[in-house]
Amino acid sequence: MGVQNPVKRLFMSLTQGVYVVGVADDGLHNAFTASSVMQVSLQPPMLALAVNPANASYPMLVGGGIFAVTVLRDGQQDLADYFGNHSARNENKLGTVAWRASPAGAPVLDEGVSYFDCRVFAKHPAGDHVVILAEVTGGDFLQQRGRPLRYDELGDMDGSDELLPDRLGASALSRRG
Ligand SMILES: Cc1cc2nc3c(=O)[nH]c(=O)nc-3n(C[C@H](O)[C@H](O)[C@H](O)COP(=O)(O)O)c2cc1C
Repeated sequence: MGVQNPVKRLFMSLTQGVYVVGVADDGLHNAFTASSVMQVSLQPPMLALAVNPANASYPMLVGGGIFAVTVLRDGQQDLADYFGNHSARNENKLGTVAWRASPAGAPVLDEGVSYFDCRVFAKHPAGDHVVILAEVTGGDFLQQRGRPLRYDELGDMDGSDELLPDRLGASALSRRG
């Protein structure tokens, strides 16, 4: 799929889904594509989401303190591309798709497989991203069937081929605690 960088190919072997994360703050709504979402706790149910703080969505996510994760399904590459390669700085992305507000108030795409309503619990800097730890406060299936889309099916849609180093070696981070 046109991926040259061996480190990118290695990271593509980590099984990740593809999600649209909806945010809401002070009457404003936006959404962006994310692949860096994982379950981290059972009691209480919690998710982690890694967000680039340069995203227009980031201040809305932190300000509103909530977000909703819509799980994309097989065949929704176009949605992943649209929400991941366009920014609220230039357009109203949610004006182009059917969506609803979750019980917590964050945008959920009608066409997804399922969604999770999340409340921000903590945030932690992680290299060029910020890891958001969130409690899952709600969620449901949106469709009867549908296989979740996988990140490795998108080739280099997110441009990380160029952003990742092309080899792994000495740590760029100082060790903590
Ligand atoms: C396949 C794919 C996966 C992405 N994963 C993430 C991610 O996990 N975290 C993130 O912050 N941005 C991710 N992005 C980038 C954002 O979706 C992108 O920067 C988006 O334009 C931000 O929109 P906004 O400026 O409206 O918030 C991803 C993009 C694509 C195409």
